[in-house]
Amino acid sequence: MSTHAARLITPDGGRGLPTPHQRRIRNGAAMPPGPSHHSPNGHLDSRRFRQVLGRFATGVVAITAVDPLDGQPCGLAANSFTSVSLDPPLVAFCVAYTSTSWPKVRGAKVVTVNVLSEDQQPVCAQMAAKGGDKFAGLEWTGSPGGNPVLDGALAWIDCAVEAEHPAGDHVIVVARVLQLDTYAEGGPLVFFRGAYGSFDGSSDEGAR
Ligand SMILES: Cc1cc2nc3c(=O)[nH]c(=O)nc-3n(C[C@H](O)[C@H](O)[C@H](O)COP(=O)(O)O)c2cc1C
Repeated sequence: MSTHAARLITPDGGRGLPTPHQRRIRNGAAMPPGPSHHSPNGHLDSRRFRQVLGRFATGVVAITAVDPLDGQPCGLAANSFTSVSLDPPLVAFCVAYTSTSWPKVRGAKVVTVNVLSEDQQPVCAQMAAKGGDKFAGLEWTGSPGGNPVLDGALAWIDCAVEAEHPAGDHVIVVARVLQLDTYAEGGPLVFFRGAYGSFDGSSDEGAR
C-alpha cells in the first residue's frame, strides 16, 4: 500500500481540520492518543483500512465470461463495481492482480456483469472461491454476448473492456456497455462491514 493511498483517506481529506483527538485537546482536557493505525514506515494498517472502508455499503456483482481458451464459463465476485458514464455508456470495477479468474474473463471479447440478488449469497461465495468449478450446480442462460447470466440475478450488463488503469494491487477496469437488461425481481445482495445483508426500500428506478 502506498503512502499516497494513506493521504487519500486522512480524516480531514487533507484540509487541515483537527482530528477528533486534536478537537478533544482544544476543548479542554487532553485525552491520551488512540492506538496508531500506521506501521512504523508510515503505511496504513490493512485491517484498519478494511474496517473503515467496509462502512461503505455496496452491492455485489458476478463478472462472468466464457474462457476462449477452453470454452468453459469463468468469473469472479466483485463489490467494486460502479456505473461511470452515460455518454458514452461506461462502467468500472477493480480487480486484484492476484485474481486467477480475471485473466480468463479478460480473454473474452465480451464480459458480463451480473447484479446479484439477496438470495444469491451462496452464488457469491461460489464465484469468490479460488479454484474448482465455480459454476457447478448453477443455472444460467447465455447473454447476447454469449456469457453466463446467472438465474436469479437482478440485472445483466454485457460490456467490452475499454481501458485498464493500474492502481496499487488492483487494476481499475473501465468497460463500455454493449447491451443490458433487468432480469429477476427481488432485493439486492448488500455487502457491509464484511457481512451480507439485504435492502428493504421502495422502488425508485430512474429517479437519478
Ligand atoms: C463480497 C466480495 C466482493 C469481492 N470484490 C472483489 C473485487 O471488487 N475485486 C476483486 O478483485 N476481487 C473481489 N473479491 C474476490 C474475488 O471474488 C475472488 O475471491 C478472487 O478473485 C479470487 O478468485 P480467483 O482467483 O478465481 O479470481 C470479492 C469477494 C467477495 C466475497
